[in-house]
Amino acid sequence: MTRLATGVILLLFAICGLSVGSRDIVEDVIRLPSEASSFFRPGGAHVAEDDDSTGTRWAILIAGSSGYWNYRHQADVCHAYQLLRKGGLKEENIVVFMYDDIAYNEENPRPGIIINNPHGEDVYKGVPKDYTGEDVTVNNFLAAILGNKTALTGGSGKVVDSGPNDHIFIYYTDHGGPGILGMPTNPYLYANDLIDVLKKKHASGTYKSLVFYLEACESGSIFEGLLPKGLNIYATTAANAVESSWGTYCPGEYPSPPPEYDTCLGDLYSVAWMEDSDIHNLQTETLYQQYQLVKRRTANDNSAYGSHVMQYGDTGLSTNNLFLYMGTNPANDNYTFVDENSLRPPSKAVNQRDADLVHFWHKYRKAPDGSTRKVKAQKQFVEAMSHRMHIDNSMKLVGKLLFGIEKASEVMNEIRPAGKPLVDDWMCLKTLVRTFETHCGSLSQYGMKHMRSIANLCNAGIGEEQMAEASAQACVSFPSGPWSSLNKGFSA
Ligand SMILES: *[C@@H]1O[C@H](CO)[C@@H](O)[C@H](O)[C@H]1NC(C)=O
Ligand SMILES: *[C@@H]1O[C@H](CO)[C@@H](O)[C@H](O)[C@H]1NC(C)=O
Repeated sequence: MTRLATGVILLLFAICGLSVGSRDIVEDVIRLPSEASSFFRPGGAHVAEDDDSTGTRWAILIAGSSGYWNYRHQADVCHAYQLLRKGGLKEENIVVFMYDDIAYNEENPRPGIIINNPHGEDVYKGVPKDYTGEDVTVNNFLAAILGNKTALTGGSGKVVDSGPNDHIFIYYTDHGGPGILGMPTNPYLYANDLIDVLKKKHASGTYKSLVFYLEACESGSIFEGLLPKGLNIYATTAANAVESSWGTYCPGEYPSPPPEYDTCLGDLYSVAWMEDSDIHNLQTETLYQQYQLVKRRTANDNSAYGSHVMQYGDTGLSTNNLFLYMGTNPANDNYTFVDENSLRPPSKAVNQRDADLVHFWHKYRKAPDGSTRKVKAQKQFVEAMSHRMHIDNSMKLVGKLLFGIEKASEVMNEIRPAGKPLVDDWMCLKTLVRTFETHCGSLSQYGMKHMRSIANLCNAGIGEEQMAEASAQACVSFPSGPWSSLNKGFSA
């Protein structure tokens, strides 16, 4: 066991070393042509629309993960809650979804407290427990958006009970993958189901405008080619459709969390918008200005540790002031927003998908030799690594079985042109996910990265039967650890 763990850890470092070594190449590749922004400059033309003398501000805040290694997502959501309350939103108008296993987690060095910044204050205090634990589900999230109380199962019953003049802000933070967003429960959230609900909400005439901030890997794929204009929805995402998003304030990085924390405290895009909103008079800052600022900070000097913040939907709404959605903290009245005046610490960051390994590694490294804690950390590390290797290998094998050794990687890795959705037949995608999982075990958080390959199988006309055959051949068995377990059900 020990020798296996050491081998795995060495392997991990070999992978990390490789990715750092090839950073220059990566930098060139991840810069997109669309970066040369020819977008309009926001003017004062629409200021009249910011009149909020009528209408209520609503918000849904959701962390899609659980587990101490995912500390940062719930920390983000708690921070957002405090920010909106200081801005003047009422508790009854903010619906919070979080698993709530962090504040009193045995790993938390400050019991009952959650921070979202190395020097940050407690953001946990007062956060309502609307939907916690097993009530953090796709179904409840969608019902909350629609304001449909009869569709809820469990939770406080709070929903966005909005009217035609109201403004809605939705903020989601978690792991994701092409076309998919994670949840602490199964199934996960598929882009088409989210978009359908947004269309339904629009059709019900129960908001004036809606802003969606989304942090996840490949988050651009949730809206790319899917969110139409004309719904009065403006969305920004932490990453484009084909790249990771990033955790920040991670152990061993700069700036790092206090030494007693073995986990990342926040996410790069999330912290960027919140630390900006925290300090400004939001009547003087537009959505577009925040988008630009967050984009610069999240790009992280276009380093390999950053991503491309994107905007989708009715981009004309970005001339609205943030005030319309977030209110404003009266204490910031004299802090007018001017370009370039936000905090921007130099930052290294950790890929969302590797943040759990960083946690297990730091836990392992710091635990005394021979302690139960060290053994446990090692076990967690090995389980996570063997799940990853199993999923990566079996997905590759499925591709080869279906398309042959030569053609497989071309089909599996194909990226559709910008503006096209990930997949045409979402039902097919979900069916193939379940089929794969039946034979190969749960994709889990990490496995979401393969959603594009599975989508490409659908796009290439592969059906359930062929998938079942290939999966059965590729996976004679699967790891017995918690990541591969199907106990919680399928992720589709
Ligand atoms: C609310 O949800 C229930 C249960 O899913 C459904 O039957 C009903 O049609 C929904 N109501 C509206 C207005 O969409
Ligand atoms: C803003 O500045 C004015 C004028 O200096 C001052 O009276 C007011 O107290 C300040 N407001 C805040 C919230 O600091």
